[in-house]
Amino acid sequence: MTQKLFFILTVLTVTASFVAASFAFEPGDERKGKYMFRKNCRACHIDGGTAKALSPNSKTQAQWEKAFEKYDRYQCVAEWNKLTPEDRNNILTYLYTHAIDSPAPATCAQ
Ligand code: HEC
Repeated sequence: MTQKLFFILTVLTVTASFVAASFAFEPGDERKGKYMFRKNCRACHIDGGTAKALSPNSKTQAQWEKAFEKYDRYQCVAEWNKLTPEDRNNILTYLYTHAIDSPAPATCAQ
């Protein structure tokens, strides 16, 4: 009985740490994030745009996280400030989920 309980606890702990490791922040809505990114960021961050092209696979997961921590230093901070914290979190969720070192990196088409 104790052994069985121990086994169940171990499985739960391992599962929980795996889930925690795949997201270093509270994930938002990836689908909304994709839409918001295209609508609010790609206007400039696209080939031939006014800023360098950005897509999820432009950075690693860690780099996206850092980018979202220090966005107040960017030239485009006003664009970020137009969004709610929830919108920004959704965008981060989208970029992070398809970062270059993620299990599902974005392809060019994304
Ligand atoms: C009005 C145009 C414009 C919009 C809209 C815009 N940016 Fe920018 N962004 C810039 C410019 C210009 C720079 C500085 C030059 C560069 O890095 O290309 C910059 C810099 C950045 C950088 C730092 C450079 C890098 O590659 O790490 C990041 C990250 C970034 N923007 C992300 C975003 C995100 C995310 C959004 C949407 C919330 C956004 N930007 C919306 C114009 C814009």
